[in-house]
Amino acid sequence: MDILWRAPAAGNAVRGKHIAERRCAACHALEAVNVSGGAESFPELSTRSDLTATKLSSLLSHLPHPMPAIMLPEQDVKDLIAYIHASAILP
Ligand code: HEC
Repeated sequence: MDILWRAPAAGNAVRGKHIAERRCAACHALEAVNVSGGAESFPELSTRSDLTATKLSSLLSHLPHPMPAIMLPEQDVKDLIAYIHASAILP
């Protein structure tokens, strides 16, 4: 069980994007323009300065209403944060 002894990997933005496509895209578009007509798109979320890694981590580890109460593995949360921050449009 070698995997148990590995240090947790840093967030992987590419993997995060795949997770977002599978679990979030029904409500949060991955494109800049929110075609799904639901919640803020990922590029919009990425520009919100209040969504720090710490905030996202607690948010995504315990998704609030109206998001489905899905328990994301810790690594998935890290990867999603890496993806959200990687898609930020920096000033
Ligand atoms: C069933 C639809 C739905 C799904 C699926 C969903 N969300 Fe959301 N999400 C929403 C809505 C609606 C809001 C806006 C909530 C509000 O304004 O209070 C939101 C808000 C958010 C916010 C901002 C929270 C804040 O404090 O403003 C983040 C970040 C977020 N979602 C990330 C995700 C991620 C990452 C996933 C996939 C793991 C996901 N959501 C899946 C509907 C969804």
